[in-house]
Amino acid sequence: MKEKIESIVSQLKNELEKDLNLVDLEALRVSYLGKNGKLTELMPLIKTLPNDEKPQFGKWINEAKAEMESLIAHKKNVLLTQQMNEKLANESIDVSLPGMNFKKGSLHPLTLVTNDLEDYFVGQGYKVAEGPELELDYYNFEMMNLGVNHPAREMHDSFYVTSNTLLRTHTSPIQARYMEKSKGDPIAIIAPGKTYRRDPDDRTHSHQFMQCEGLVIDKNISFANLKDTLLSLAKHLFGPERTIRLRPSYFPFTEPSVEVDVSYVDSDGNIGWIEVLGAGMVHPNVLQMGGYDPKIYSGFAFGIGIERIAILKYKIDDIRQFYTNDLRFLNQFKGVL
Ligand code: DAH
Repeated sequence: MKEKIESIVSQLKNELEKDLNLVDLEALRVSYLGKNGKLTELMPLIKTLPNDEKPQFGKWINEAKAEMESLIAHKKNVLLTQQMNEKLANESIDVSLPGMNFKKGSLHPLTLVTNDLEDYFVGQGYKVAEGPELELDYYNFEMMNLGVNHPAREMHDSFYVTSNTLLRTHTSPIQARYMEKSKGDPIAIIAPGKTYRRDPDDRTHSHQFMQCEGLVIDKNISFANLKDTLLSLAKHLFGPERTIRLRPSYFPFTEPSVEVDVSYVDSDGNIGWIEVLGAGMVHPNVLQMGGYDPKIYSGFAFGIGIERIAILKYKIDDIRQFYTNDLRFLNQFKGVL
């Protein structure tokens, strides 16, 4: 019996020597180990053996089966590797072919300015805050000291969505939201974001634009702190030779309020001034509504027009360029960081 089994194993070994493909190999497996395979066919013989020989027979069969399975598996591996090598040889890459042209985008100039402002202020210990673009009248106006019939609301001719929600007209409501959240703790934040006003679009106006709000509240914050902050910012944005000029102005949420101009030298060598932002000392009403006692706390705030900064920095002649997705415009900012 043992010889019979051994001869089946050696038959298989001979077969495996031949030139086979994967299909032949599977057929071979079935013909030896399948339901009606050569080895399987021997199994019923166990019944014909005397009881004391049965375990030995079972052992031989199992050993033979294991050996045959491993021979077949080994051959299969060899064939698969061969197949893969042939495939690789046939599919070798032609490195002289032109590569695929992946179009690479670039950061939008408004994103460049926003990133720069964030880097700059975060470096000075400020946090970056956010607020919703669809804002409540309550935060957009009331908490910023613009009561229901305040005439300055007119400057913010607005997109109302319901009677008490609107697309925010400035980033200032983030001041109120952050004060509420801070529960009397000192604050130093900037808050960049999109803003909306019902303005007809032209070279210098857009119904959608971006601002970056700033708010600092602590004990003993003075106007000198504000001026120093703005001067350093102007130098960072436009160069160390620049200076600033503050003009008295009016905003309901600051008192005193200023408009800030940055100096430039024109082609004839004359000094000119360009307005870049509004700022001021936080109005006591705003502090009070935000949960800060104006007798103990003071603060300054500013609102930067991001498009204005980008227009000056990159010498852009029309604010609409930012929003029309013209690749000839956008591609000029490739590689600018
Ligand atoms: N919110 C003002 C605007 O949109 C800009 C502004 C001015 C913001 C003075 C401020 C500020 O925080 O102090 O016109």
